[in-house]
Amino acid sequence: MLQACISSGNTQLALAQNEYFNGRVIGLQWGDEAKGKIVDLLTLRHDIVVRYQGGANAGHTVVVGDQTYKLSLLPSGVLTPGVTCVIAGGVVFNPARAIEELDELARRGIEDYDNLKLSDRVHVIFPWHFAEDRAMDAATSDGENIGTTQRGIGPCYRDKVGRSFAIRLGDMYRPTFRQRVEHITEAKNRAIAAMGSSGEFQPLQAAAIYEQYRAYAERLQPYVDDTTEYLLSAAESGKRILFEGAQGALLDVDHGTYPFVTSSNSSGVGVSSGSGVPGKYINRVIGVVKAYSTRVGGGPFPTEQDNEIGQRIRQQGNEYGTVTRRPRRCGWLDAVAVRYTSRLSGVDSISVMLLDVLSGLGELKICTAYEIDGQRTTQFPSHVDDLRKARPVYETLPGWRDDITGVRKLNDLPANARAYLDRISQIVGLPIEMASVGPARDQTIHVSDV
Ligand code: GDP
Ligand code: IMO
Ligand code: MG
Repeated sequence: MLQACISSGNTQLALAQNEYFNGRVIGLQWGDEAKGKIVDLLTLRHDIVVRYQGGANAGHTVVVGDQTYKLSLLPSGVLTPGVTCVIAGGVVFNPARAIEELDELARRGIEDYDNLKLSDRVHVIFPWHFAEDRAMDAATSDGENIGTTQRGIGPCYRDKVGRSFAIRLGDMYRPTFRQRVEHITEAKNRAIAAMGSSGEFQPLQAAAIYEQYRAYAERLQPYVDDTTEYLLSAAESGKRILFEGAQGALLDVDHGTYPFVTSSNSSGVGVSSGSGVPGKYINRVIGVVKAYSTRVGGGPFPTEQDNEIGQRIRQQGNEYGTVTRRPRRCGWLDAVAVRYTSRLSGVDSISVMLLDVLSGLGELKICTAYEIDGQRTTQFPSHVDDLRKARPVYETLPGWRDDITGVRKLNDLPANARAYLDRISQIVGLPIEMASVGPARDQTIHVSDV
């Protein structure tokens, strides 16, 4: 049955497993869909892997053998030798974190990682951004905080758009850098103190910040490049590029559950603006979907299970934030949301992740519509107040008992697990390309590989 769905999807799954393409990997929920695993797997078919939005709010996990890597800034392609990894201009860049990740790789035997290219256009996160993130999130007082990762993401993007207080990586190699830091530190000290809710805010010291960031700039200089030019040339010359989305499409600043979103375009629409590569070069979009739903931080979540089911999913799926270790909110799969985000991101096929986590649940539910003010709809609301009112309409499917973590072929899955995948494919209207039954590379079912 699943095979039938696959061939009836709106794009042929013509690209065979080992065929190469320029692809983008987009999370279709609220982040943490296991994009890191999929990017790592697909890296084998690419020359270049690109992060193009977000920053160290991301936490992408890649498991290679008995080693687990948690990457916040470096693309998940870093674990594949010979692949060039690019941090493109749309990223907000924490240099300390990037250096930590490079050092961590070196400690674990991936020395002298010289295949990294860092855009001189990335906006740099400074200590004032962390202070502002804390103060601003605490000040969101209409009943619910955004619950940011406190990594300075929103304030840095705000300064990027505001222009007056922004520093890009390329600015750190110019003679005016010290002066800029002094000027901005002074202004930020005043602004943060005026925010009032910053607790024990110690004024920032421009001299110390300048010295610290000068050292970062020196350390990172070998990697700095004009990545827009590099990626355009690569695309034009037929290099195979994989774009690694961070967060998920429901956290997109324009099209997500605003204001409970991140500050970048985390749906498919952000790829070109963040990387500089026109959409015409991207011929394949893989949507990554957890077999259920999770969300970290505030905001409406219609299918949330704040009960024993949610706890059980959290326990089985180890659903704690990769970056902040916060317990993730857990619930049933919301197919209304996933259908919306897959259309928004131009998804060709989906990968259903963490299917094994659902093993042992007696029955499973998929949300197929919402009821809002007594009206049934399959349209995802544009306003957060309407999403708050949405009552999920569920379809119930029988679960399966067996441990599926050892399954490698679709036909070896229990019939109910196959039926669950099949129903997701039908409701979302897209073929399923992969199903994941564990964190390891080989715990993956390639659907075309029957
Ligand atoms: P990302 O931010 O989208 O890359 O996802 P995270 O790394 O934040 O969270 C996904 C978590 O699920 C990581 O701990 C992965 O190692 C783990 N994981 C990935 N695929 C599977 C799977 O199929 N089953 C299970 N049980 N865990 C998985
Ligand atoms: P990956 O790439 C899950 C959430 C935060 C908060 C909101 C805004 O690992 O999927 P921010 O710090 O970005 O201003 O926080 O977005 N958030 C994520 N949730 N996965 C992520 O990244 C996230 N990045 C940000 O929890 O609700
Ligand atoms: Mg994550």
